[in-house]
Amino acid sequence: MKENVIKNYELVDDNVLDNTIRPECIEEYIGQSDVKENIKVFMDAAKMRNEALDHVLLYGPPGLGKTTLAFIIAHEMGTNIKTASGPSIEKTGDLAAILSSLEPGDVLFIDEIHRMPRYIEEILYPAMEDFSLDIIVGSEGNSRNIKIDLPPFTLVGATTRAGDLSSPLRDRFGIVSKLQFYTVEELTDIVKRTSRVLEMPITEDAAVELAKRSRGTPRIANRLFRRVRDFAMVKNSKEITLDITEEALDRLKVDKIGLDNTDRELLLAIINRFNGGPVGIEALSSSIGEEVTTIEDVYEPYLLQIGLLKRTARGRVVTDKAYEVLGVTKSKK
Ligand SMILES: Nc1ncnc2c1ncn2[C@@H]1O[C@H](COP(=O)(O)OP(=O)(O)O)[C@@H](O)[C@H]1O
Ligand SMILES: [Mg+2]
Repeated sequence: MKENVIKNYELVDDNVLDNTIRPECIEEYIGQSDVKENIKVFMDAAKMRNEALDHVLLYGPPGLGKTTLAFIIAHEMGTNIKTASGPSIEKTGDLAAILSSLEPGDVLFIDEIHRMPRYIEEILYPAMEDFSLDIIVGSEGNSRNIKIDLPPFTLVGATTRAGDLSSPLRDRFGIVSKLQFYTVEELTDIVKRTSRVLEMPITEDAAVELAKRSRGTPRIANRLFRRVRDFAMVKNSKEITLDITEEALDRLKVDKIGLDNTDRELLLAIINRFNGGPVGIEALSSSIGEEVTTIEDVYEPYLLQIGLLKRTARGRVVTDKAYEVLGVTKSKK
């Protein structure tokens, strides 16, 4: 319970921070070069034809820059952005209201688009395809269909789970881009940028250390930056040094390769309670008390990426590298 309160508090804090340091234009958006180059070409072409950009679906783990990119698209296209999120659209009328408020070329950003109920999703199909809104008005027995023309607009959808999107919806996106985890070099640049924006200098080696411990994720890099900055301020240091960074991150229980307590707990549970796996996701979930979706969306992707975990048909298995990293000797089966 207590931990949840802290986590939620952290989320609110993150949102404030996200908004202050979010890059505004595409030149400031570091990394993701394939995605960036493609979208740039499509934006240029749309501008030359004086059309709205084709609909864009961005997917990938949390904190990799989906929302940021949606805002950048609107900025680069010189249009407004309206935002909504899948779970917050509860009635078809909610979506109809948002759609009918759009102006030509606007970006409509729907976060967590996989969490939109199917009957609401269906409103989107004609809207995306023909820019038309088909709704039923009136009460039962006295209802009729009306069709409203919408201006051309760009839907930008973001999701952590592209697989949960229905195929009719997925097929209506002309541009589908997967965001990747960032390299240490890219994260170092992001940390340095944050340091400039927040006006707190950081040494080169400290920036690299922070980057290494950020799980390939800009949001985590920025969050850790802020924590390390607190340590530096308390120590009366005018800049963030490697010593301060190491001390702060060790105290926060973020290890050398960026794993936090939950990452380690997850791997150790598989090792100690399931003999290294394979273990089903449900059993793992109840064993460590984290939701299945949290494990799948937040923790697993990075552990898979760095090769500590494997997914097999029979469940999750830890790799030899995981034993090594955690300093556990493998027991005979
Ligand atoms: N490519 C990037 N370059 C610089 N900063 C980034 C980049 N991607 C994300 N960030 C930073 O990370 C934070 C989280 O990104 P966000 O777009 O909210 O992630 P998502 O929507 O995928 O969860 C943002 O506030 C932004 O400051
Ligand atoms: Mg987001």
